Amino acid sequence: MPSTDDRTLTIRRPDDWHLHLRDGNMLRAVLPETARHFARAIIMPNLVPPVVTAQDALDYRNRIVEALPEGMSFTPLMTLYLTEETDPEDVAQAYENGIAAAVKLYPAGATTNSASGVTDFNKVRPVLDKMAEIGMPLCVHGEVTSPAIDIFDREAAFIDTVLKPIRKKNPDLRIVMEHITTQDAVDYVRDQHRNLAATITTHHLIINRNHILAGGIKPHYYCLPVAKREQHRIALVQAAISGDKRFFLGTDSAPHTDPAKLQPCGCAGVFSAPNTMSCLAEVFDAAGALSKLEAFTSLNGPAFYNLPANTETITLEHGDPVTYPSQIHTDDGPVTVFDPGFPLHWRVTD
Ligand code: DOR
Ligand code: ZN
Repeated sequence: MPSTDDRTLTIRRPDDWHLHLRDGNMLRAVLPETARHFARAIIMPNLVPPVVTAQDALDYRNRIVEALPEGMSFTPLMTLYLTEETDPEDVAQAYENGIAAAVKLYPAGATTNSASGVTDFNKVRPVLDKMAEIGMPLCVHGEVTSPAIDIFDREAAFIDTVLKPIRKKNPDLRIVMEHITTQDAVDYVRDQHRNLAATITTHHLIINRNHILAGGIKPHYYCLPVAKREQHRIALVQAAISGDKRFFLGTDSAPHTDPAKLQPCGCAGVFSAPNTMSCLAEVFDAAGALSKLEAFTSLNGPAFYNLPANTETITLEHGDPVTYPSQIHTDDGPVTVFDPGFPLHWRVTD
């Protein structure tokens, strides 16, 4: 069938600055889906038990490298899960020896496998001070967990009650606000000119809360932070297509098997690794901003992490709609792939 047109776009190979790869069967199944298009990714440490020490990160990195199929290349950038017992010296050594690229802060109870996260921020102050001293970034799940705060307000409340005080006490700490979902977060990041950046997921550029809740509940769109109103989605798109160096891609691709998602208390997470680049090209194209895709996926992230941009490239071609499997198979069960709800015309050709 002839293509509707033959527009092409070549960009530097992208990186994913927030990714869940899990372990075991799941790791083996999902890793190639990311490695196919992405050169590097910041790997989330919320395994059970979590990746806390430098040794844990080294062991996990080895398991990832072993799971990579022959012929694929991919560099996992490891993170350490911050607990109230984390040793500042272990963290510093992990960073200085190239074992970990960042530390991950989960407020206790905020999301999947976050029970070992932080309740009392004073207890982690020595770790944060050490990180500020050596320039190691802190990746932050920015939601308060208090049951008194409405789930749609938890990100905005986190900025005011946790992030601002941390940044005030420790202005030299380099922070990535991960998977931002609100206009409030976009405005806050834009307002800060030092040591603060944010990642944005593919799915938060595409869905709002109606997609989850209107016309029947859609568990495959449920993730944390939960998608907000349309006004917030639009703010995220504006930030992503702006070229502003403070915003870059972190897919938060977070696989759960369908049986784990489709139950009375289903898991949070959207699995978008297979079709993320097609989805993003569609979003940027629709906004007339294809020329900014490379900054978002391939340039701004490395700049923040003080890493060189990738030298290899990928090419995307526009044509007839491209289909992706609705699920991928894993030996733990099927995992549903993110459905953007519109046809995708951009395919990665090489
Ligand atoms: O939706 C989410 N899923 N949000 C997170 O913060 C964690 C993730 C997971 O690990 O499944
Ligand atoms: Zn995540």
